Amino acid sequence: MLSWLKSLFARKRPEYVRGQRSTPSADTRRGAGGDEGPAVSEAVEAVRRKSEAEKWRADGVGNLDSQAKRKDGGIENEHELVVRVARRIEERTFDLPQLPATQMAAMNMAGDPNCDINGVVELISTDPVLSSELLRIANSPAYSKDEPAETLHEAVMRLGTRVLRSMIYTVSIRGSVVSVKGLKTYSEEIWRQAFMVGNIAKGIAPKLKMEPEKAFLLGLLHDIGKIVLLSILKSENLNAKDLTPSTVGRIFYRFHERAGGLMAETWKLSPEIISVIQKHHDFRGNEEHPRSAALVSLAHRMDLHLSTADNESFDELLEAEEFDVLEVLPGDREAILSAGRAAYQQEFARNRKVA
Ligand SMILES: [Fe+2]
Ligand SMILES: [Fe+2]
Repeated sequence: MLSWLKSLFARKRPEYVRGQRSTPSADTRRGAGGDEGPAVSEAVEAVRRKSEAEKWRADGVGNLDSQAKRKDGGIENEHELVVRVARRIEERTFDLPQLPATQMAAMNMAGDPNCDINGVVELISTDPVLSSELLRIANSPAYSKDEPAETLHEAVMRLGTRVLRSMIYTVSIRGSVVSVKGLKTYSEEIWRQAFMVGNIAKGIAPKLKMEPEKAFLLGLLHDIGKIVLLSILKSENLNAKDLTPSTVGRIFYRFHERAGGLMAETWKLSPEIISVIQKHHDFRGNEEHPRSAALVSLAHRMDLHLSTADNESFDELLEAEEFDVLEVLPGDREAILSAGRAAYQQEFARNRKVA
């Protein structure tokens, strides 16, 4: 699992992404193009989904939002812990993960429409981790052209400043998550969810007439409060054996929007991103940016269902209230869910391969 986490940026598109371990296409699921009849292929698919979900749970803590709904599985003194966490947030007695200065400066420069590319390159070159990640991403299948990008300048030109900003955030968030030691399985799940929700949001954005890179950032960052909460739990001297996914999930659910707002202000994120981080579960209540809040809420729910292999309730998303706020007519919803599922499956296949 750790190797999967480390290798998220080393995306060599594997041979068998389209082979047996990858999720079959909708046509294959229906039995088209194969020797099996529909019933056999659906049964095989059901077994595959179940075993993937079990492996996911066995590897880590599972989707914490689904664990939070369980009535059992909490730690004995959960209530006392919740009270302590609430008090620490109220009194702000915790350290916020900091965004490295170079990354924040590079992000600000890249966000300026008249930015000086040479200045951005010079700045990034002072950060070896950022430099190597950007070169690697620029040469990944999604961006590489015939000739490899050999210099940082070529990499930045290839990615463009919008993608560059997303990449810097992605590197920063990953760095913040993995810096919380001792609760590795939880930090891996936070990262998995952030990355997947970002990719789902990006995948459905064009059908909603929204800008894909902005959608990716909203999805990637919307739950950053969970990183703050994880470091609070760590500073309470709690390790994985002292906690359960149900307890952590409930603490996340209760406090993550508030904790995330504090982190977003410290990181000087844009007013829209801060607003969505602070209020996305009650997306109708987000008066400033209801569409963006509904977008991440929908992407989050898609990830929740797909990561728990619960396809029946995935289809129930056709009735999701988020679609009303996004002004999507019932007849157009299935295509959006399919785009989200495809984005999820693409990343899932890539990352399971390199694990
Ligand atoms: Fe959330
Ligand atoms: Fe979320």
